Amino acid sequence: MRTLLLPAGAAGTVETAAEILKQGGVVAVPTETVYGLAADGLNPEAVLKIFEAKGRPQDNPLILHVAEAEAVEAVCHDIPAAARELAARFWPGPLTMVLPCREVVPRRTTANLDTVAVRCPRNAVTRAIIRAAGVPLAAPSANRSGKPSTTAAAHVLHDMDGRIDAIVDGGPCQVGVESTIVDLTGDRPRLLRPGGVTPEQLREVLGELVVDRAVTAQVARDAVVRAPGMKYRHYAPQGQVLIVSGGPEAAAAYVRRRFAPGDAVLCFEEELPLYAGCNPTAYGREADTESLARGLFAALRDLDRADIRTIYARCPQGGGITWAVRNRLGKAAGFRVVGAEEAP
Ligand code: TXA
Ligand code: MG
Repeated sequence: MRTLLLPAGAAGTVETAAEILKQGGVVAVPTETVYGLAADGLNPEAVLKIFEAKGRPQDNPLILHVAEAEAVEAVCHDIPAAARELAARFWPGPLTMVLPCREVVPRRTTANLDTVAVRCPRNAVTRAIIRAAGVPLAAPSANRSGKPSTTAAAHVLHDMDGRIDAIVDGGPCQVGVESTIVDLTGDRPRLLRPGGVTPEQLREVLGELVVDRAVTAQVARDAVVRAPGMKYRHYAPQGQVLIVSGGPEAAAAYVRRRFAPGDAVLCFEEELPLYAGCNPTAYGREADTESLARGLFAALRDLDRADIRTIYARCPQGGGITWAVRNRLGKAAGFRVVGAEEAP
């Protein structure tokens, strides 16, 4: 299959992408979080092509993308007031809600769950494509399963060239990590994945928010989890990622004592001078935590090389978007963390 490249701003892009989607094809589309691998979410044959292109296990459900909050009514039922409040405040934007699912949604999209994840992305061209296609689009992140998500069209092309019908190039993604997922089907709202909408922002609307264990710790492969995607190894380069916690000097001293040829360092821009000679890559500025979210996946992709053995990684502390950065880096590392201050 030849993969078409469609610039987001070009005449005819929306129509061409929508036509492919209506025919049951797969198109990678830009969103403010990461690129998505989109197909008609109500067409089981089209949805199957997403799983095949990604190499994704079929027990991992997909998010349905809508152009307007009102479109949720067609795919969900018993929508709680909290969901309407969240949509009014954060949509279009990097928030996904898990809600009770209507029967029009194929079991393949939801991986047999009786709930479905829905989100209204912010990207104007992608919303125009959803409207023109006339159906909600199922779209996981547009990476090969297990690899870091894609935040630029070039990353999508690298992973998906020849495997999908088209890629809409909308430039680099603004947020850089996937949407926040909140489950609204239980007794209490539950955070399944931190993202661009922060836990603090959610609590302003919801009052309370339970943070699922899978956000901060490794989940066993056979565990029963709320977000099935949480149990899989994710975002992982070929080398072994190890998070080094502690102050900048202590962490650098720890790494320098162990650094061997074939190792690499993933750090903050401010720390680059501390790692001279240790093959450092900066993914953003510690003082600008949004830049860390924006740069993380591209940096993990750069470091995804057979000749890199151990990647010593620095991880931000605090609230806001750092929840999402810690979660993704934690997953890339299998939540392996060493405390530089305590280690010999
Ligand atoms: O920002 C995003 O959310 C991106 C863009 C493309 O919108 N999409 C994305 O999709 O990250 P994906 O498939 O890579 O991650 C979706 C996560 C998976 O961990 C999946 O298990 C979980 O959402 N999920 C989907 N449906 C669910 C449901 N009904 N209940 C719980 N978790 C669900
Ligand atoms: Mg993904």
